[in-house]
Amino acid sequence: MTKILMVCLGNICRSPLAEGILKSKVDRSRVFVDSAGTGGYHVGEPPDIRSIEVAMSRGIDITGQRCRKFSKVDFRDFDLIFAMDRNNYHDILKQAETEEERKKVHLLLDLIDIGVQEVPDPYYGGKRGFEDVYGMIDQACTALIAQLY
Ligand code: 4NP
Repeated sequence: MTKILMVCLGNICRSPLAEGILKSKVDRSRVFVDSAGTGGYHVGEPPDIRSIEVAMSRGIDITGQRCRKFSKVDFRDFDLIFAMDRNNYHDILKQAETEEERKKVHLLLDLIDIGVQEVPDPYYGGKRGFEDVYGMIDQACTALIAQLY
């Protein structure tokens, strides 16, 4: 079983989409997918309604997800940890204690070549930002499954 963790800041906008999108593409008996946030502002909450709606419009239901905070234990529990932006990436790396742990951490958009390396935080924008974020994450997840199988 390959275990993959998607991480953003709030775990209510970007990483819940990444979790839902990747789950929709993988054989779930072989790949375990979860998400978390480096910040703890929304722990226990469902995803942002705008992420729920964008996912739903593509047939993906993320309403059952609940926000949790990234923790050091995740380095033990996951094989690959994908950060949405550089702040998330550095916040995760700061908590790593071994080279093995550091090697698990990647920027999600490094999987593809679309001219940007960060999934922008859509929280303070409109719905359009969520559509753009969905597209970027979707492309990266497609590239990821090509590497996994
Ligand atoms: P996310 O977006 O990191 O994609 O979940 C955010 C959601 C909430 C906040 C920041 C980013 N916040 O500061 O509450």
